[in-house]
Amino acid sequence: MRTPIIAGNWKMNTTPGEAVELAKAMKKKLTGISGVEKVLCPPFVSLTLVKDVIKNTSIKLGAQNMHYERKGAYTGETSPVMLSQLCEFVIIGHSERRAMFGETDQTVNRKIRAALELDLTPIVCVGETLEENEAGETIEVVTRQIKAAFQDIESLEGTVVAYEPIWAIGTGKAAKGEQANAISRLIRSVIAPLYGDTAAQEVRIQYGGSVTAANVPEFLGQPDVDGALVGGACLKAAEFIGIVEQTSKIKKAA
Ligand code: PGA
Repeated sequence: MRTPIIAGNWKMNTTPGEAVELAKAMKKKLTGISGVEKVLCPPFVSLTLVKDVIKNTSIKLGAQNMHYERKGAYTGETSPVMLSQLCEFVIIGHSERRAMFGETDQTVNRKIRAALELDLTPIVCVGETLEENEAGETIEVVTRQIKAAFQDIESLEGTVVAYEPIWAIGTGKAAKGEQANAISRLIRSVIAPLYGDTAAQEVRIQYGGSVTAANVPEFLGQPDVDGALVGGACLKAAEFIGIVEQTSKIKKAA
């Protein structure tokens, strides 16, 4: 049984004061929802503040990015050692980082390795662009990204994968549930020959891209989709709580 996981990627939103308010607004209701792992990923400058708000609850904390080196002259960067003392999760290879900040399959691979070495759980993002989708290249692109991300990594234990078609991110045009399921199955089929059938069945796969409380049942109703990586909708407490509530209901009924 894979525990469903809903993560909110706050991106570059909320001041430290607003982050505290948002976390407080979600805390009580989120804590009361069972059977779903709940992860908040606020901006770096708010990690300690949000950590304080959610301490002694079932809500977990994640970062949105990190460097792969443990320390050194990397002005402006945050290391896995620093994060490992603050949070349990880290989003790696988000398409915005790949498109705007020069992340490649190679840096993604180094970051995953660095995270796993320090017992941080990476949420590894993959997904095709609109052009790739329209050219029928989705399978090829996602297969390449998964193989490159995990190259020479011994075990995927604990790793979470997020399938996020780039054309669905922040556009209000979510994928179809069947498509998210088909790509989730593809990801398992790429992982199976590398890490074995058990690992392929155990890895948790989220869908991301314009997920809302209204459309989350379409995704979480799919057998191979284990959760969601939520952007815009996680900045509204009621909406994010709704997504987690629906997930709990759907997966308990499955
Ligand atoms: P969105 O973002 O929910 O706003 O589409 C998802 C993401 O970027 O992870």
